[in-house]
Amino acid sequence: STVYVLNGPNLNALGKREPGIYGGKTLDAIEADCHNLGETLGFKIDFRQSNHEGVLVDWLQEAGDKANGVALNPGAYGHTSIALHDAIRSIDIPVVELHLSNIHAREAFRHVSMTAPVSKGVICGFGPGSYMLALRALADMTGK
Ligand code: DQA
Repeated sequence: STVYVLNGPNLNALGKREPGIYGGKTLDAIEADCHNLGETLGFKIDFRQSNHEGVLVDWLQEAGDKANGVALNPGAYGHTSIALHDAIRSIDIPVVELHLSNIHAREAFRHVSMTAPVSKGVICGFGPGSYMLALRALADMTGK
C-alpha cells in the first residue's frame, strides 16, 4: 500500500530552524528514515512538503484517491486551517496527525488543533520519532 507523508510550512527548514525545539535532523534525513521504515512495513512512501495551505489541500484530496493512509505534520496550519480540517474529513483513508514537538507543552496557541478532531489520532513530542510512530500506527490500522 501507499502512504503519503505530508509536511506543512517551515518544515523545509528543519535542521537549521530552532534546533533546540525541533532537533538537528533535516527533513531529507527524516524522509530517508520514512523510506527505510516504510520498506519494513510494506509501504510505498510518497513524502512531500509545502509552505502553501492550498497545495496541502490538493495533496490530501489526491491521497484520498491514490493512497491508503496519510501521516500529516500540518505545521502551524494545524492550529488554524479549517480548509485542512475539511480536506481530511472529505477523504476516506486514515490520517494520523503528528508533530515533532509536544504542542501541549508549548504556547497556548499551539494547544488548539483544527486537524486533530478529524484525524484518527495525534502523535507529538517525539522529534523525528513522531514520524516513525505515525507510520507504525498506519500499519496497524491498514493491516499492513
Ligand atoms: C510543528 C508544531 C507547530 O506548532 C509548528 O508551527 C511547526 C512544527 C512540529 O512538528 O512540532 O511548524 O508542527
